[in-house]
Parts: sequence; C-alpha cells; structure tokens
Amino acid sequence: MTTFAERGLDLRGLLQGTVAIVTGASRGIGAAAAWTFARAGAAVVLAARGEDTLLELADRIGSEGGRATAVATDVTEPEAVERLVARAMETYGRLNAAFNNAGEGALQGPLADVEPEDFDRVLDVHLRGTFLCLRSEIPAMLQSGGGSIVNMTSTAGVGGWRGLGAYVAAKHGVVGLTRSAALDYAAQGIRINAVAPGPIMNDRIASLSDEQREPIARAVPMQRIGTPEEVAATVAWLCSDAASYITGAVVPVDGGQLAEI
Ligand SMILES: NC(=O)c1ccc[n+]([C@@H]2O[C@H](COP(=O)([O-])OP(=O)(O)OC[C@H]3O[C@@H](n4cnc5c(N)ncnc54)[C@H](OP(=O)(O)O)[C@@H]3O)[C@@H](O)[C@H]2O)c1
Repeated sequence: MTTFAERGLDLRGLLQGTVAIVTGASRGIGAAAAWTFARAGAAVVLAARGEDTLLELADRIGSEGGRATAVATDVTEPEAVERLVARAMETYGRLNAAFNNAGEGALQGPLADVEPEDFDRVLDVHLRGTFLCLRSEIPAMLQSGGGSIVNMTSTAGVGGWRGLGAYVAAKHGVVGLTRSAALDYAAQGIRINAVAPGPIMNDRIASLSDEQREPIARAVPMQRIGTPEEVAATVAWLCSDAASYITGAVVPVDGGQLAEI
C-alpha cells in the first residue's frame, strides 16, 4: 500500500510566507520536514551539527525553487541556539514556525546499567535542547506577531519502553515542556504542540536485517514502519493556520501504537 507521502501529497501554499526553523534537519525526519516546509512555501532555516550536509541540503532545496539557509548548530549549546534564531531573524526578518526535532534514539539497556554521564547526554540533547530552542524561539516569535512550534517527542514520551529509560524520561519531559509552554503563551499568539511518532524509517532502522525489522513493523497496528514524510506532513499542518485552534497537544503519528497503551 502506498502512503499519501509516497503518492506525492501536495501541500503547496500551506506555509506560504512562513519563516521556519527545523533542527536535526540534516537527515531522517528533520530533512523530510525541511523539504516539506520548503515545498509548502516556507523559507527554512536548517540546523544540525554537521555543516557540510546542511549546506548541501540548502543548495538542493534552493535548486528546486525553495528558500533555505544552513546554520551549523549544536542544540545543547545556549549561545549556538541564540545564534541560530538571530540568523533566522537577520536573514528573513521574522520567525513564524519551528520544529524542534534534533536528537537520536538511544538504546541503553536496563536502567541500573546506565552510566550517569550517558543519562545526562540523552537528557541534554532531547530535553534541555528542546528547552533551549523554545527559550530562544519564543521571544523572536513574539516579536514576529505570533507563531507555531512543534516539539519532537515519541510514543516513548507517553508510555514506558524496556531498555530506553533515559530516552523515555527525556521524551516524557518534552511532553511536559510542551504543555507548560503552550499554557504560558496561548494568550500571546504562540501555539506549541508535540508530535509523538512510532517507528519511523531512518538510517538505523534501514541498516537492520529484514529479520530484525519485521518485529518492529509487526508491533504497529498498521503493520508497517512509518515514513519521515508522514511525520513531516503532520508537523507542517500543525505549523499552519489549518491548525489554528490547536495548542498543548501531543499528536501521535504512530500507525495506531498509542491506541494500545
Ligand atoms: N525514527 C524514529 O523511529 C523516531 C521515533 C520517534 C521519535 N523520533 C525522534 O525524532 C527525532 C529525529 O529522529 P531521526 O530518526 O530522524 O534521527 P536521525 O536520522 O538520526 O537524525 C537526527 C538528526 O538530529 C541531528 N542532531 C543530533 N544531535 C544534535 C545536536 N546535539 N544538535 C543539533 N542537531 C543534532 C542530526 O544531525 P548532526 O548529527 O549533524 O547533528 C540529524 O540531523 C529525534 O528527536 C528522535 O528521538 C524518532
């Protein structure tokens, strides 16, 4: 069965005139979001640590008629995140949307086996990184007359998962940050939501053997692994005026997985 994204879901115009930051934009879900945002009419500010990949992506988006700027950024560094938002404001004059997505999955084993520094590293990228992005993006959005932010959580931000304690704690934290920030800024024209994907194809899942991948798909009610484009389409919609009365929500993009928790 082909998905909407594979059939070429047409979102042209959905984000026309929008200036959007996407973190973790160099590959996976973030790269798909960068393309989706650009094709929907947004000017996109791409952030990740690896500058070469980002510059190449910005060039490719530009050569297809989109607008994109690459800003090498480590989301765990407050000054770097401040520079990222400042670049968006300098380059495009405003900030209307942001997808705080940076970070990678982290299977660490049973909780008592996790080293404190490994726990800190996971919390640093996923939870503190999301906080640092919100902290810099919100003032820029207030200055721009409002906006919409989508934070990346996971089905692991809603339920527990064996062997993933630090990641689960961080992603639950992102849900809490999202809800509290949404309440803080609801009356000031900033909507703040989160997406909670189930298993989504990325380099790590693609590198597994068919035998390793099959149980992952089988655990999903829809019996398949999702595509980065399916998450990207939901994020673009949440960032758009089509979702104008939605804030503080955690939207599953999980083939039905959370319906079973
Ligand atoms: N794939 C899934 O099944 C799934 C499911 C639920 C939630 N998620 C969440 O979705 C997000 C993206 O996952 P993905 O599967 O697309 O991963 P991915 O393909 O590994 O991409 C991760 C992205 O994050 C960037 N990144 C990592 N650490 C960073 C840092 N400190 N500062 C800035 N950028 C950083 C990476 O670029 P650099 O290495 O160049 O910095 C890369 O662009 C993550 O938050 C993940 O937890 C994924």
